[in-house]
Amino acid sequence: MSSFKTLDDLGDIAGKVALVRVDLNLPMKDGSASDVTRVEAAKPTILELAEKGAKVLLLAHFGRPGGQRSSVLSTSMVVGDVEGVLGKELMFIPEVAGPVVAQSIGILRNGDIGLLDNVRFWPGEEANDAEFAKAIAENGDFYVNDAFSAAHRAHATTEGLAHHLPAYAGRAMGAELKALDAALGTPEQPVAAVVGGAKVSTKLAVLENLVGRVQHLIIGGGMANTFLAARGVDVGKSLCEHDLTDTANRIMDEADHAGCTVHLPYDVVVSKEFAANPASLRTCNVHEVAEDEMILDVGPSAVEALGDVLKTCKTLVWNGPMGAFETEPFDAATVALAKTAAALTQEGSLTSVAGGGDTVAALAHAGVKDDFTFVSTAGGAFLEWMEGRELPGVAALSA
Ligand code: 3PG
Repeated sequence: MSSFKTLDDLGDIAGKVALVRVDLNLPMKDGSASDVTRVEAAKPTILELAEKGAKVLLLAHFGRPGGQRSSVLSTSMVVGDVEGVLGKELMFIPEVAGPVVAQSIGILRNGDIGLLDNVRFWPGEEANDAEFAKAIAENGDFYVNDAFSAAHRAHATTEGLAHHLPAYAGRAMGAELKALDAALGTPEQPVAAVVGGAKVSTKLAVLENLVGRVQHLIIGGGMANTFLAARGVDVGKSLCEHDLTDTANRIMDEADHAGCTVHLPYDVVVSKEFAANPASLRTCNVHEVAEDEMILDVGPSAVEALGDVLKTCKTLVWNGPMGAFETEPFDAATVALAKTAAALTQEGSLTSVAGGGDTVAALAHAGVKDDFTFVSTAGGAFLEWMEGRELPGVAALSA
């Protein structure tokens, strides 16, 4: 893992202005956040800086306003949610740079927290414009990045600022990087990866990276159908990217050469219609799927065998559900395998790291989100990390 400075490297920061990049891109429902996990993740960093007497200015994006102001995408929309999590009042500042920010800093007392407006209201943010970053930096003494989930963006406040101010990783960023390193950087072997989700096309780079790094690649979800079809299985009406069967075969060949075992389901749960508890529900061997049926989950025998694979492993990295988990009973494989992974983690035999939007929801549904070693709330950043790519926001901290 490349090295970076943390809050432990800060000297006396009383009265200094901390520019802290956080991820407040929160899902909203009826005017307030429906999930504040990202605020909770950034809370230790924000409060630590405030307790040490810094004036803390939070920088964040909210949605994709495309370089223009938009009242519904102002970060003022989440002030109440953030205050609720932090247990402290915020000063909302409707700018990110310039005299309004400077005057607000004059009003803030040591230990106070300000929230700047959506950094994406300015085109310079996404363009990673050096002048824009410099203008923001002029009001700060140092920069802290605690937004791993935005670290795959080379934007002014996720990357550029690190070149204009002394830069530090926040507590959540540090914990995330440590966990990810334990999962794929320098993991204890054998390593298993669970990759699920609907489409192979969205995870090609992930699969290509993993076959060279893990000993067991467990493929589930709709994407398993493409691999089954590549092996000559008739998947009936199942979601399947038939144009990617050559690619699937190539990935399986690469896995063979690298000594990675690819696990595909050999029994499956099928139905003629995609609905909760449908009348046509049945479990069968993958070779017995009828032409009017679709595969909607991995079958129980395969799940048991996959559980046995996990028992032989020391490390697990998981992205994507095994079946159509939002609709019962097609959540069964995801729930069962997640419970096995959680139990092995709790026993101390497995280091388990999971991430990605659907994955977090699936683990929460299985009731095991807190039993994994680490669950990342990052979506795109987690996937890019699984692809083996260097994240610009992380690289800038290491520079
Ligand atoms: C996210 O919600 O995954 C991050 O905040 C990044 O958002 P973006 O995809 O709009 O860059």
